[in-house]
Amino acid sequence: TPLHGLLEALPKCEHHLHLEGTLSPELLFTLAERNQVALPADAAYASPAALRARYAAFTSLDDFLGYYNAGVVVLRTAADFEELAYAYLSRAARTANVRHAEVFFDPQAHTARGVAVATVVAGFHAAARRAHADHAVSALLVPCLLRHLPVDDAAACFDAMLAAGLFSPTGTGTGTGTGSPPLLAGLGLCSTELARPPSAWAGIFAAAAAQGIRRTAHAGEEGPAAYVAGALDVLGAQRIDHGTHAADDLGLLARLAAQRVLVTACPVSNVVLRVSPSLEDTPLRAYLAAGVRFSVNSDDPAYFGDMYLQEVFCAVQEAFAFSVDEWALIARNAIEGSWCGDERKRSIG
Ligand code: HPA
Ligand code: ZN
Repeated sequence: TPLHGLLEALPKCEHHLHLEGTLSPELLFTLAERNQVALPADAAYASPAALRARYAAFTSLDDFLGYYNAGVVVLRTAADFEELAYAYLSRAARTANVRHAEVFFDPQAHTARGVAVATVVAGFHAAARRAHADHAVSALLVPCLLRHLPVDDAAACFDAMLAAGLFSPTGTGTGTGTGSPPLLAGLGLCSTELARPPSAWAGIFAAAAAQGIRRTAHAGEEGPAAYVAGALDVLGAQRIDHGTHAADDLGLLARLAAQRVLVTACPVSNVVLRVSPSLEDTPLRAYLAAGVRFSVNSDDPAYFGDMYLQEVFCAVQEAFAFSVDEWALIARNAIEGSWCGDERKRSIG
């Protein structure tokens, strides 16, 4: 198909990728065995192939999250986290020319099982250093607080990461993954969305802002445009993850454009989780028309048909037939909207 060669060569930044969402059924079974973790007594866990088949039939965000949260329990040691993150970073660099990745992880999903955040971060940091040395890809980490757990739990998690000195002060992250910790580049918010409006997390996000920590939030995936406005107003989010339902409100699109907010779109995820009926129905053209900056991302590729970033770009091109100039703008906005330093941005493209 026209442009696929160009799309492969395009220098990319990925901003919306959950490292736990890169856990393949095969690695899940391998780690369960290695760490002696029991898998759910559910027919879906009969084999990696059975699990893959179940992943092909998600009906909603919450249906997916049930499997995603069941999967993370096999991750226990720093070596597990390193293996997971290195596999993603090296694949992204090799197959999609991803030059810079700002990746999410869920600290509460691990601390709830007695795995220290420091263990998780140490594994990811080792992977980032190795991937940078081997593939010249830079990485920054963004912990996401979980909306399905009590707000107090999120507050305690944030306070612990802050007290441990894990966050980089804004603007000091090299984005090369080669420096020593701290290397958390910002704070995110994810998991189930309906009936969990942003307001409950306002206090935590205000505390993050007061510390000069960058903020982003999943909003407008299953939730309405009002939750996207809430993420901006109440959480002070500087980035919006998904943002799909923002397109229901043209005034909100104008505001996202005026404030130069980067929307981290995940079109394949939106189709798989039935947020959008088809790729053509995802609002990428509406964003271009309104001047909203966005990047194109894979979200949880191991759960979404192994659609890593190159496969997502090609699928988007099949659906939208963007021009060379439109792709150049998308790639440029992704670089400029990144949270790495200007020097690193210049070296990306
Ligand atoms: N939405 C909300 N929470 C998530 C997602 C998502 O797409 N992926 C992993 N956690
Ligand atoms: Zn996500």
